[in-house]
Amino acid sequence: VLCWFYVYPVYRLPRDKDIVEEVLRQGDEWQRNQTGIDLYRKLLTECCDPKRMFAVTKENSPMGKVLWYDGEIYHSHTVNNDTYPLFVQDNPLQLPLKKCAVVGNGGILRHSKCGRDIDRADFIMRCNLPPLSKEYVEDVGTRTHLVTANPSIIEKRFQNLLWSRKAFVENMKAYGSSYIYMPAFSMKPGTNPSLRAYYALADTSSNLTMLFANPEFLRTVGKFWKARGVHARRLSTGLFLVSLALGLCEEVTAYGFWPFSVGLDEQPVSHHYYDNILPYKWFHAMPEEFVQLWHLHKSGTLRMRVGHCP
Ligand code: CDP
Repeated sequence: VLCWFYVYPVYRLPRDKDIVEEVLRQGDEWQRNQTGIDLYRKLLTECCDPKRMFAVTKENSPMGKVLWYDGEIYHSHTVNNDTYPLFVQDNPLQLPLKKCAVVGNGGILRHSKCGRDIDRADFIMRCNLPPLSKEYVEDVGTRTHLVTANPSIIEKRFQNLLWSRKAFVENMKAYGSSYIYMPAFSMKPGTNPSLRAYYALADTSSNLTMLFANPEFLRTVGKFWKARGVHARRLSTGLFLVSLALGLCEEVTAYGFWPFSVGLDEQPVSHHYYDNILPYKWFHAMPEEFVQLWHLHKSGTLRMRVGHCP
Protein backbone atom coordinates (compact mmCIF):
# COMPACT_ATOMS: atom_id res chain seq x y z
CA VAL A 1 0.00 0.00 0.00
CA LEU A 2 1.39 3.37 -0.95
CA CYS A 3 1.42 6.04 1.70
CA TRP A 4 0.06 9.44 0.71
CA PHE A 5 3.45 11.01 0.86
CA TYR A 6 4.72 8.63 -1.80
CA VAL A 7 1.80 9.49 -4.00
CA TYR A 8 2.19 13.24 -3.54
CA PRO A 9 5.90 13.98 -3.25
CA VAL A 10 5.41 17.69 -2.65
CA TYR A 11 8.85 18.55 -1.38
CA ARG A 12 11.92 16.51 -0.67
CA LEU A 13 14.95 17.75 1.16
CA PRO A 14 18.23 16.34 -0.17
CA ARG A 15 19.77 13.73 2.09
CA ASP A 16 22.48 14.92 4.49
CA LYS A 17 25.03 12.95 2.48
CA ASP A 18 24.03 14.73 -0.75
CA ILE A 19 24.30 18.11 0.95
CA VAL A 20 27.79 17.28 2.24
CA GLU A 21 28.85 16.19 -1.27
CA GLU A 22 27.45 19.36 -2.78
CA VAL A 23 29.34 21.50 -0.26
CA LEU A 24 32.55 19.58 -1.00
CA ARG A 25 32.07 20.11 -4.75
CA GLN A 26 31.83 23.85 -4.23
CA GLY A 27 34.97 23.87 -2.05
CA ASP A 28 36.34 27.21 -0.87
CA GLU A 29 35.25 28.99 -4.00
CA TRP A 30 33.21 32.11 -3.29
CA GLN A 31 32.60 35.33 -5.10
CA ARG A 32 30.84 38.33 -3.68
CA ASN A 33 27.81 39.38 -5.72
CA GLN A 34 26.69 42.95 -5.08
CA THR A 35 23.48 42.49 -7.06
CA GLY A 36 22.48 39.57 -4.81
CA ILE A 37 23.38 41.54 -1.69
CA ASP A 38 21.32 44.55 -2.83
CA LEU A 39 18.40 42.35 -3.84
CA TYR A 40 18.17 40.60 -0.45
CA ARG A 41 18.50 43.89 1.40
CA LYS A 42 15.62 45.24 -0.68
CA LEU A 43 13.46 42.12 -0.20
CA LEU A 44 14.06 42.07 3.55
CA THR A 45 13.46 45.79 3.85
CA GLU A 46 10.16 45.46 1.99
CA CYS A 47 8.90 42.52 4.02
CA CYS A 48 10.27 43.18 7.45
CA ASP A 49 11.83 46.67 7.72
CA PRO A 50 14.70 45.48 9.98
CA LYS A 51 16.12 48.98 10.49
CA ARG A 52 12.98 50.22 12.16
CA MET A 53 11.45 46.98 13.42
CA PHE A 54 14.07 44.54 14.69
CA ALA A 55 13.77 45.68 18.30
CA VAL A 56 10.87 46.98 20.38
CA THR A 57 11.50 50.72 20.62
CA LYS A 58 9.64 53.70 22.07
CA GLU A 59 9.23 54.86 18.48
CA ASN A 60 7.60 51.69 17.06
CA SER A 61 5.84 50.63 20.27
CA PRO A 62 4.32 53.66 22.02
CA MET A 63 2.24 53.47 25.16
CA GLY A 64 -0.97 51.50 24.54
CA LYS A 65 0.42 49.65 21.52
CA VAL A 66 -0.65 46.00 21.42
CA LEU A 67 2.26 43.63 20.84
CA TRP A 68 0.99 40.28 19.56
CA TYR A 69 3.18 37.38 20.66
CA ASP A 70 4.67 35.71 17.58
CA GLY A 71 5.30 32.32 19.17
CA GLU A 72 1.70 31.63 20.19
CA ILE A 73 -1.71 32.78 19.06
CA TYR A 74 -4.16 35.01 20.92
CA HIS A 75 -1.66 36.37 23.41
CA SER A 76 -0.68 39.97 23.49
CA HIS A 77 0.97 42.55 25.68
CA THR A 78 -0.26 46.14 25.78
CA VAL A 79 2.63 48.54 26.31
CA ASN A 80 2.12 50.19 29.68
CA ASN A 81 3.84 52.24 32.39
CA ASP A 82 5.88 49.23 33.47
CA THR A 83 7.23 48.21 30.08
CA TYR A 84 7.46 51.41 28.02
CA PRO A 85 10.36 52.87 30.06
CA LEU A 86 12.42 49.72 29.37
CA PHE A 87 12.45 50.23 25.61
CA VAL A 88 15.25 52.04 23.79
CA GLN A 89 14.18 55.25 22.06
CA ASP A 90 15.00 54.13 18.53
CA ASN A 91 17.22 51.68 16.62
CA PRO A 92 20.54 52.19 18.43
CA LEU A 93 22.79 50.61 15.78
CA GLN A 94 25.11 52.81 13.74
CA LEU A 95 23.98 51.99 10.21
CA PRO A 96 25.01 50.75 7.77
CA LEU A 97 27.05 48.05 9.44
CA LYS A 98 30.02 47.07 7.29
CA LYS A 99 31.40 43.53 7.66
CA CYS A 100 29.16 41.39 9.85
CA ALA A 101 29.89 37.96 11.27
CA VAL A 102 26.95 35.82 12.33
CA VAL A 103 28.14 33.01 14.55
CA GLY A 104 25.92 29.94 14.91
CA ASN A 105 26.73 27.36 17.56
CA GLY A 106 27.42 24.36 15.32
CA GLY A 107 30.06 21.78 16.26
CA ILE A 108 31.99 22.47 13.04
CA LEU A 109 33.44 25.51 14.76
CA ARG A 110 35.43 23.24 17.06
CA HIS A 111 39.05 23.18 15.81
CA SER A 112 38.09 25.50 12.93
CA LYS A 113 40.56 28.19 14.02
CA CYS A 114 38.02 30.78 12.85
CA GLY A 115 38.39 32.98 15.96
CA ARG A 116 40.68 35.53 14.34
CA ASP A 117 38.56 35.74 11.23
CA ILE A 118 35.42 36.29 13.29
CA ASP A 119 37.06 38.90 15.51
CA ARG A 120 38.11 40.92 12.44
CA ALA A 121 34.47 41.69 11.54
CA ASP A 122 33.01 45.10 12.34
CA PHE A 123 29.87 43.70 13.92
CA ILE A 124 29.67 40.24 15.48
CA MET A 125 26.39 38.52 16.31
CA ARG A 126 26.14 35.38 18.45
CA CYS A 127 23.30 33.09 19.50
CA ASN A 128 21.98 32.06 22.91
CA LEU A 129 24.72 33.32 25.24
CA PRO A 130 27.36 30.87 23.97
CA PRO A 131 30.50 30.07 25.98
CA LEU A 132 33.51 32.19 24.98
CA SER A 133 35.94 30.71 27.49
CA LYS A 134 39.65 30.33 26.78
CA GLU A 135 39.41 26.85 25.32
CA TYR A 136 37.14 28.13 22.51
CA VAL A 137 38.73 31.49 21.73
CA GLU A 138 40.88 30.18 18.88
CA ASP A 139 37.79 28.76 17.17
CA VAL A 140 35.06 31.31 17.90
CA GLY A 141 36.84 34.55 18.82
CA THR A 142 36.22 36.88 21.72
CA ARG A 143 34.36 39.96 20.49
CA THR A 144 30.58 40.34 20.47
CA HIS A 145 28.32 43.21 19.46
CA LEU A 146 24.94 41.53 19.70
CA VAL A 147 24.05 38.29 21.47
CA THR A 148 20.64 36.66 21.68
CA ALA A 149 19.34 35.20 24.91
CA ASN A 150 16.36 32.91 25.01
CA PRO A 151 14.23 33.33 28.15
CA SER A 152 14.50 29.56 28.68
CA ILE A 153 18.25 30.03 29.33
CA ILE A 154 17.44 32.51 32.09
CA GLU A 155 15.11 29.92 33.56
CA LYS A 156 17.41 26.91 33.29
CA ARG A 157 20.87 28.35 33.79
CA PHE A 158 20.10 31.20 36.18
CA GLN A 159 17.14 29.88 38.22
CA ASN A 160 14.89 32.39 36.48
CA LEU A 161 16.81 35.14 38.33
CA LEU A 162 14.50 34.66 41.29
CA TRP A 163 17.40 34.14 43.68
CA SER A 164 20.88 35.45 43.07
CA ARG A 165 21.56 37.60 40.03
CA LYS A 166 25.31 37.60 40.61
CA ALA A 167 26.15 34.59 38.43
CA PHE A 168 24.10 36.07 35.57
CA VAL A 169 25.73 39.48 35.77
CA GLU A 170 29.20 37.89 36.00
CA ASN A 171 28.52 35.59 33.02
CA MET A 172 27.34 38.49 30.91
CA LYS A 173 30.73 40.19 31.21
CA ALA A 174 31.98 37.79 28.49
CA TYR A 175 29.93 39.82 25.99
CA GLY A 176 31.59 43.15 26.78
CA SER A 177 29.36 46.09 26.01
CA SER A 178 27.16 44.42 23.44
CA TYR A 179 23.43 44.37 22.90
CA ILE A 180 21.57 41.49 24.43
CA TYR A 181 18.62 40.65 22.21
CA MET A 182 15.77 38.83 23.94
CA PRO A 183 12.46 37.62 22.46
CA ALA A 184 10.53 38.92 25.47
CA PHE A 185 7.23 39.00 23.59
CA SER A 186 7.36 35.71 21.67
CA MET A 187 5.91 33.36 24.27
CA LYS A 188 3.97 34.51 27.32
CA PRO A 189 6.12 32.58 29.85
CA GLY A 190 9.22 34.33 28.46
CA THR A 191 8.15 37.87 29.31
CA ASN A 192 8.86 37.95 33.03
CA PRO A 193 12.31 36.27 32.82
CA SER A 194 13.23 38.80 30.11
CA LEU A 195 12.13 41.74 32.25
CA ARG A 196 14.07 40.31 35.19
CA ALA A 197 17.16 40.02 32.98
CA TYR A 198 16.67 43.68 32.03
CA TYR A 199 16.59 44.74 35.70
CA ALA A 200 19.50 42.48 36.70
CA LEU A 201 21.64 44.33 34.15
CA ALA A 202 20.24 47.81 34.75
CA ASP A 203 20.50 47.59 38.55
CA THR A 204 24.17 46.61 38.37
CA SER A 205 25.07 49.31 35.82
CA SER A 206 26.13 46.60 33.40
CA ASN A 207 27.79 47.58 30.12
CA LEU A 208 25.24 45.56 28.17
CA THR A 209 22.15 47.11 26.62
CA MET A 210 18.96 45.09 26.56
CA LEU A 211 16.98 45.05 23.32
CA PHE A 212 13.69 43.19 23.15
CA ALA A 213 13.08 41.46 19.82
CA ASN A 214 10.02 42.92 18.14
CA PRO A 215 7.48 40.08 17.69
CA GLU A 216 6.18 41.77 14.54
CA PHE A 217 9.67 41.56 13.01
CA LEU A 218 10.06 37.90 14.02
CA ARG A 219 6.70 37.11 12.47
CA THR A 220 7.42 38.83 9.15
CA VAL A 221 10.87 37.21 8.89
CA GLY A 222 9.22 33.83 9.57
CA LYS A 223 6.80 34.45 6.70
CA PHE A 224 9.62 35.54 4.42
CA TRP A 225 11.39 32.18 4.82
CA LYS A 226 8.19 30.16 4.78
CA ALA A 227 7.54 31.55 1.30
CA ARG A 228 11.01 30.27 0.38
CA GLY A 229 10.46 26.71 1.59
CA VAL A 230 11.49 26.68 5.25
CA HIS A 231 8.75 24.60 6.84
CA ALA A 232 9.47 24.96 10.54
CA ARG A 233 7.21 25.80 13.43
CA ARG A 234 9.73 28.43 14.23
CA LEU A 235 12.92 29.66 12.57
CA SER A 236 16.15 28.99 14.37
CA THR A 237 17.81 31.88 16.15
CA GLY A 238 20.66 31.70 13.67
CA LEU A 239 18.41 32.30 10.65
CA PHE A 240 16.77 35.29 12.37
CA LEU A 241 20.20 36.80 12.88
CA VAL A 242 21.34 36.09 9.32
CA SER A 243 18.14 37.79 8.09
CA LEU A 244 18.83 40.79 10.31
CA ALA A 245 22.42 40.92 9.05
CA LEU A 246 21.35 40.71 5.39
CA GLY A 247 19.08 43.67 6.03
CA LEU A 248 21.61 45.81 7.89
CA CYS A 249 25.13 44.87 6.78
CA GLU A 250 27.17 45.52 3.66
CA GLU A 251 28.75 42.07 3.87
CA VAL A 252 27.73 38.97 5.83
CA THR A 253 29.80 35.93 6.76
CA ALA A 254 28.16 33.06 8.66
CA TYR A 255 30.08 30.63 10.86
CA GLY A 256 28.95 27.58 12.81
CA PHE A 257 25.96 26.67 10.64
CA TRP A 258 26.15 22.92 10.09
CA PRO A 259 23.16 20.91 11.32
CA PHE A 260 24.59 17.55 10.25
CA SER A 261 26.22 14.84 12.29
CA VAL A 262 29.13 14.28 9.90
CA GLY A 263 31.65 16.83 8.78
CA LEU A 264 33.27 17.44 5.40
CA ASP A 265 36.02 14.99 6.40
CA GLU A 266 33.32 12.37 7.12
CA GLN A 267 34.16 12.49 10.81
CA PRO A 268 31.38 12.87 13.40
CA VAL A 269 30.53 16.44 14.39
CA SER A 270 28.84 17.39 17.64
CA HIS A 271 25.69 19.50 17.52
CA HIS A 272 27.29 22.46 19.31
CA TYR A 273 30.92 23.50 19.53
CA TYR A 274 30.65 23.17 23.31
CA ASP A 275 28.33 20.13 23.76
CA ASN A 276 26.29 17.56 21.89
CA ILE A 277 22.82 18.22 23.26
CA LEU A 278 20.45 17.81 20.33
CA PRO A 279 17.55 20.19 19.69
CA TYR A 280 13.93 19.38 20.29
CA LYS A 281 12.96 17.46 17.13
CA TRP A 282 10.54 19.01 14.60
CA PHE A 283 10.67 22.43 16.20
CA HIS A 284 13.26 23.95 13.89
CA ALA A 285 14.10 22.80 10.38
CA MET A 286 17.82 23.46 10.42
CA PRO A 287 18.75 21.31 7.39
CA GLU A 288 16.11 23.15 5.33
CA GLU A 289 17.51 26.41 6.57
CA PHE A 290 21.01 25.27 5.67
CA VAL A 291 19.94 24.60 2.08
CA GLN A 292 18.62 28.17 1.85
CA LEU A 293 21.80 29.60 3.30
CA TRP A 294 23.85 27.50 0.91
CA HIS A 295 21.92 28.95 -2.05
CA LEU A 296 22.80 32.42 -0.78
CA HIS A 297 26.42 31.36 -0.43
CA LYS A 298 26.53 30.02 -3.97
CA SER A 299 24.97 33.18 -5.33
CA GLY A 300 27.54 35.35 -3.50
CA THR A 301 24.93 37.06 -1.31
CA LEU A 302 26.56 35.91 1.92
CA ARG A 303 29.55 33.78 2.73
CA MET A 304 29.25 30.54 4.70
CA ARG A 305 32.34 29.30 6.47
CA VAL A 306 31.95 25.55 6.90
CA GLY A 307 35.56 24.43 6.96
CA HIS A 308 38.73 25.60 8.63
CA CYS A 309 39.66 29.24 8.40
CA PRO A 310 42.91 30.14 6.66
O1 CDP B 1 18.46 26.97 20.33
P1 CDP B 1 18.60 27.20 18.87
O2 CDP B 1 18.28 25.98 18.10
O3 CDP B 1 17.92 28.38 18.33
O4 CDP B 1 20.14 27.53 18.59
P2 CDP B 1 21.55 26.94 19.10
O5 CDP B 1 21.56 25.47 19.17
O6 CDP B 1 21.99 27.70 20.29
O7 CDP B 1 22.47 27.39 17.87
C1 CDP B 1 22.43 28.70 17.36
C2 CDP B 1 22.13 28.68 15.88
O8 CDP B 1 23.21 28.06 15.17
C3 CDP B 1 20.91 27.85 15.52
O9 CDP B 1 19.76 28.64 15.68
C4 CDP B 1 21.20 27.44 14.08
O10 CDP B 1 20.81 28.46 13.20
C5 CDP B 1 22.72 27.32 14.07
N1 CDP B 1 23.17 25.91 14.23
C6 CDP B 1 23.46 25.16 13.07
O11 CDP B 1 23.26 25.65 11.96
N2 CDP B 1 23.95 23.90 13.20
C7 CDP B 1 24.15 23.34 14.40
N3 CDP B 1 24.64 22.10 14.48
C8 CDP B 1 23.83 24.06 15.56
C9 CDP B 1 23.35 25.36 15.44
